Order: sequence, then structure tokens, then C-alpha cells
Amino acid sequence: MSTPHPVITIDGPAASGKSSIARLVAQRLGFTYVNTGNMYRAMTWAVLQAGVDPQDAEAVRATAASVVIESPVAEGKTQVCIAGHALTDAELNSDPVNRAVSHIARVVEVRERLVAAQRALIAIGPLVMEGRDIGSVVFPDSPHKIYIDASEDVRASRRSAQGHADQVAERDRLDKQRKASPLVIPEGARVIDNSHITLEQAVEQVIVTLKLS
Ligand code: DC
Repeated sequence: MSTPHPVITIDGPAASGKSSIARLVAQRLGFTYVNTGNMYRAMTWAVLQAGVDPQDAEAVRATAASVVIESPVAEGKTQVCIAGHALTDAELNSDPVNRAVSHIARVVEVRERLVAAQRALIAIGPLVMEGRDIGSVVFPDSPHKIYIDASEDVRASRRSAQGHADQVAERDRLDKQRKASPLVIPEGARVIDNSHITLEQAVEQVIVTLKLS
């Protein structure tokens, strides 16, 4: 399945640095940046707002089916709106959302809905899209695939430096072990470990590796 515009897929575990790298690669190339983790976080926020237990897959399915989620573009990146409300960074990264998001993300119907929404974003133009299954499931035919990694220690310290008390290792375990679209290194992806290089060096490596400069 070819796309009308190029899409750079960037996958990797929690707090690997992939969001910062993806955002800067998009800026350098003039592509629109899409953070798909924020779409799963927004869905999680909506489920929690509805008072639903995140571990009750049946209730999550029913609630998620009626959630109106949109991704308008502002300043070179997509925002996430639920029923017209643009979610703030504080809402997307709250402790309750951090704790619940991996449970919401393993519900097949939630994934199907968000994957369809992600594919539709190609109408915007060239994209840098980051997440867990972008190169493996959302755009498996893209020739521009990157997998960003970093050691567990580095990832945990990056998360706490951002002020988030996030259970990175536990979230990775759930994301890698789930049945629906687990986190994998997509076929054909170039792996970049950025544990010991700067953000600028990682961005440069992505651009050079993909021969896009
Ligand atoms: O990238 P992030 O840490 O903000 O993502 C939050 C959660 O969303 C993550 O634990 C797994 C899920 N996710 C997913 O399953 N598939 C994606 N494409 C993006 C995120």
C-alpha cells in the first residue's frame, strides 16, 4: 500500500527519546509531526473521565466507541481533541493516565479505531509519525523506518527529569507482551540507540540514515 506522501515511522520504548527526536526531524524536514502515544493517552483520559475501570476491557470498548477524537494541525504538529476539547500536556501526562494507558492500548477495538485515524492523517502531507507500531502495523510499507532505543537506566532517569513518576519498565513490559500489535523492531527499520549521544546527534543520524537531507 503506497501513500501519497512520505511518512517517516519512528518507534521505540517509553522515554527512549523518540518524541524529541521525531519532533526535531519533522521541523528540519518541514513535515508534520504526529505523536500517536498522545492519541492513546487522550482515549485513556476520556475513559477515566467517564469513570470506567481501565482494566475492564468490555467497559473500555463501549466507552471508547462513542468518544469523538480529532487531530487538528497547529504549528507543525497534530493536537488531540476529545469532543472538541484540546487536551493539555498536563492532562495527557497525568499520573492516572500514565498508570492506565497500557491497559487501554491493548484493547483491539481501541487500536483499530486509532490506527484508522492515524492512516487518515496522511492526507495532511508528509509526516513524521512516532509510536509503538507505526512501522509494523500503521505504515508497514514505508521505506523510511526508524527504531529508537536507549538503556533502561537512561530511560528511567529521562522520565524522572521530566518530572513524571512513570513506571517505564512496567509500561514497556505490558506494551511488549500484549497480543495486539506489541512493541517490536519493525521489519526494515534502522535501529538508533541514543543512550550516549546528544539529541542533535540522534536527529542527524536519523536524517543521514534515511538519506533525506
Ligand atoms: O509514547 P507514549 O509513552 O506517550 O505512549 C503511551 C502509551 O500508548 C504506551 O505505553 C503504549 C501506547 N501506544 C501504543 O500502544 N501504540 C502507539 N502507536 C503509541 C502508543
